[in-house]
Amino acid sequence: MYTQSLDLPGNPASVTAAGDDASRQAAFDARMAADNKIEPQDWMPQAYRKTLVRQISQHAHSEIVGMLPEGNWISRAPSLKRKAILLAKVQDEGGHGLYLYSAAETLNTSRDEMVDALHTGRAKYSSIFNYPTLTWADVGVIGWLVDGAAIMNQIPLCRCSYGPYARAMIRICKEESFHQRQGFDALLAMMRGTDAQREMVQDAVDRWWFPVLMMFGPPDSASTNSAQTMAWGIKRISNDDLRQKFVDATVEQAKVLGVTLPDPGLQWNVERGHYDYSPLDWDEFWRVINGDGPCNRERLATRVKAHEDGAWVREAALAHAAKQAARETQREAA
Ligand SMILES: [Fe+2]
Ligand SMILES: [Fe+2]
Repeated sequence: MYTQSLDLPGNPASVTAAGDDASRQAAFDARMAADNKIEPQDWMPQAYRKTLVRQISQHAHSEIVGMLPEGNWISRAPSLKRKAILLAKVQDEGGHGLYLYSAAETLNTSRDEMVDALHTGRAKYSSIFNYPTLTWADVGVIGWLVDGAAIMNQIPLCRCSYGPYARAMIRICKEESFHQRQGFDALLAMMRGTDAQREMVQDAVDRWWFPVLMMFGPPDSASTNSAQTMAWGIKRISNDDLRQKFVDATVEQAKVLGVTLPDPGLQWNVERGHYDYSPLDWDEFWRVINGDGPCNRERLATRVKAHEDGAWVREAALAHAAKQAARETQREAA
């Protein structure tokens, strides 16, 4: 039924909208309580949408900035086999960026807006990618520890309440598992090699261990958004709990590898049934996240340059698409 009466005094649109919002909110809350997925066409509160856009786009940015530290080693890989593996891994990370930008686009935000936020320094990405890769052992340690921490973080996201994000994460996690194994395998080969190689691995582990633990984010006591994102089913496990799970799993892997984790405070706590570890330097974390890490400027400059250098590809793709569309129209008209 279509009628002008919708505009009559006494029945203002705002009242109807507020009423609608209340019932939509109730439907949304019921879905959350039943642990059902929210899909792009479903109504959702603005704050939920905004939080997801921020989280998914930050995640996408982390994937593509994460290509840079390892990308530096593609031309210097020690063998054809290692080069092929590293190329595949770095390409996977680019693919993860694409899945995630696409998932964020289903929330009515454009790729251009997100990329612009990254390039102008308004958007954040994982602090870990602002550390340098000084030796080939760093590539192995990134696979073992950085991808290992990413898996720990991302597996619970496969059950995230927002459908497109959860589905993207299922595929990403499968690939991250290959990344972690290739890193561990590269390190194992070096540990079975010469003293110099073993020292190189230990040095890389010493430099990456604490920054990797910070990948899980600030302690729960200082994590302002966590309670709400947990209530919305976006986050399932707290930062500190994920960090603990990672420490417990990694200590055992370090034993197999034969490296020492650089924390004298790391020891098994019988009562807790977990490993204790020393407090982390959160000043360093905030410094790096806020733009003052060892490689922040270099990473951003490289990203912006890659985007600018690729402008002709985007223009050519658009010109090609326009040409195809024009041919199609001509064919239909004929
Ligand atoms: Fe990834
Ligand atoms: Fe990865």
